[in-house]
Amino acid sequence: MSCSITLKELSYENSSKKIFENVNLNVGHEEKVAIVGANGAGKSTLLRVIAGLEYSYKGDLELFHNKISSKKEYKKFRSDIGYLPQDVNDYFLCPVVIEDVMFNLRAKGINKEEAYCKALNILESMNISHLKDRTIFDLSGGEQKIVALASILITEPKILLLDEPTNALDSSAEKRVVDILNSIKKSMIIVSHHKTFIQKLAPTVYTLNKNGLELN
Ligand SMILES: Nc1ncnc2c1ncn2[C@@H]1O[C@H](COP(=O)(O)OP(=O)(O)OP(=O)(O)O)[C@@H](O)[C@H]1O
Ligand SMILES: [Mg+2]
Repeated sequence: MSCSITLKELSYENSSKKIFENVNLNVGHEEKVAIVGANGAGKSTLLRVIAGLEYSYKGDLELFHNKISSKKEYKKFRSDIGYLPQDVNDYFLCPVVIEDVMFNLRAKGINKEEAYCKALNILESMNISHLKDRTIFDLSGGEQKIVALASILITEPKILLLDEPTNALDSSAEKRVVDILNSIKKSMIIVSHHKTFIQKLAPTVYTLNKNGLELN
């Protein structure tokens, strides 16, 4: 199987305690996998490791069959990864919605007009074009979450790591996110506590617990 993400005997501990251990996982090309587990089980920390934000793990992390052993090696794959954090408060780089959604495209050298058109298209497809001129910090938690998702999807990463993508969304926004994510053929790891959301999206569900990842 062609794998986008492979984890072998991955473990992580911070200065005070072991967060998770014995984590083994293969996420195939365009496969959608969900991870559930109790509060504090280490789901967000695991996603942060895969997203290249925590390096002091033990075991193997491979992206597209390349073993990642350092920050430098991760750099080559950073643009392939779209990571939505659980808390999007610190995520935004520009104060205005449309500018923020354009930001990653502008950073890739795409000119302002093209970036603007693409940003508007993605906001329309997600039914949030009415927010385009709003200040990010005046948006509700759910609105912020869906804007953050737009700014990730616009760069068309090969892998999506989504930490509780629907935790502040109302039912119609959640349905929109389900439809959007179902229409995207990419490898994904989705962390969520919402069972019905997961059922609509990911055929494979694991629980993270003290033994590692167990198939549900
Ligand atoms: N920056 C940090 N410093 C110290 N401990 C941390 C830090 N981040 C997380 N932890 C601890 O690591 C453990 C795992 O946290 P993590 O956020 O990964 O859990 P989670 O499974 O995502 O939980 P939830 O379902 O509540 O989001 C928790 O005990 C938490 O207190
Ligand atoms: Mg979490």
